Amino acid sequence: MSKLFTPFSIGKLEVKNRFVRSATTSYWSDDTGILSDPIIEHYEKLAKGNIGLIIKGHSYVSEKGKAHSKQSGLSAEAHVPRMEELVEIVHSYGSKIIGQINHGGFTCRQDRVTASAYKTNDWEARELRQDEIEKIIEDFAEAAKNAIAAGFDGVQIHAAHGYLNSQFLSDRVNKRLDEYGETLEKRALLLMRIYDAIREKLGEKAIIGVKINGDDFAEEGGMQVDDAISVIKWLAEKGLSFAEISGGGPEQQNHIRKTRGRAAIETGYCEATWGAHVKKIRDQIQDLPLIIVDGIRSRTTMDALLDNNVADFISMSKPFINEPDLVNLLEEGQERASCIDCRKCISSDNFAKTMLRCFYKHP
Ligand SMILES: Cc1cc2nc3c(=O)[nH]c(=O)nc-3n(C[C@H](O)[C@H](O)[C@H](O)COP(=O)(O)O)c2cc1C
Repeated sequence: MSKLFTPFSIGKLEVKNRFVRSATTSYWSDDTGILSDPIIEHYEKLAKGNIGLIIKGHSYVSEKGKAHSKQSGLSAEAHVPRMEELVEIVHSYGSKIIGQINHGGFTCRQDRVTASAYKTNDWEARELRQDEIEKIIEDFAEAAKNAIAAGFDGVQIHAAHGYLNSQFLSDRVNKRLDEYGETLEKRALLLMRIYDAIREKLGEKAIIGVKINGDDFAEEGGMQVDDAISVIKWLAEKGLSFAEISGGGPEQQNHIRKTRGRAAIETGYCEATWGAHVKKIRDQIQDLPLIIVDGIRSRTTMDALLDNNVADFISMSKPFINEPDLVNLLEEGQERASCIDCRKCISSDNFAKTMLRCFYKHP
């Protein structure tokens, strides 16, 4: 019998099956970060579609930390009532929902900040002062409190894809000489302090997870799988509830992704971009619920990942934009997601118009 449709618990949180909708943002909130009706309607479709655990698209922890316009916020109590409506609808279908919280770091248009001064051809970001770091840690804890006030079943700290936490973890971006830089342990201090602050605010039973890169796929340096293993171990020792393993970001080089990602093919999990990375993490960290995301499309791969104990949950983003009822379709015998990975839902041309809408299906 397929494990896909069996329950699994993350701490006290029982999830009815092994499907996760990976955080998927939209440009559909208003300018103050408050959710619009179409967002709530979309989440209702996902919950109706029987997804066990839905991770809400990233919400900013402060106005300054906004990664893009019309992003949802969890920085203020004013964000809570509409989030509460969304959570109630999701719960009414028996799905669980976790709030992802984020600071954009050098992706923030308003004030590009990061670990150390950083420059591209188009923009420059400045180094964060220590007092600003203290404020960001408090902001994460406050946003987590707002998420729980809205009824979310837990929170996920975004530490992947080249946003602020990911920037601090990377030795390519983080050149600091204070306690936040120089060694992996010190580069991970921001994430550890954010985790501690949230744990202190929410208590020992709260579900606190992380989304983290198993590999930045950068030209040289950056997070690689052994770094990810160390960071996840440190968080697990503190009581982390789950980790979702992702990869890539602005420093990703496609040829590096192809070579290091290719190891995934040898394991047979050719659809799951970082199957081999996640397997390596699982081999070293057994007790932590693991979620694998990226490029997973067929029942065969999903079953293989669970049967071989690579991960406990199968997470997808784009396929659920196209087919919010994919879980039911797979259970009824459909072999694979219909998403053709045209990536139009995430292309910068269409970003604002089409997120949470399949551009291929509805051009
Ligand atoms: C439209 C869109 C928005 C996304 N927003 C987020 C986000 O808010 N937070 C996040 O961690 N990842 C985000 N992602 C990345 C996905 O969660 C996921 O890691 C990635 O798409 C790979 O999974 P897939 O191959 O199943 O789509 C987004 C992806 C898409 C397509």
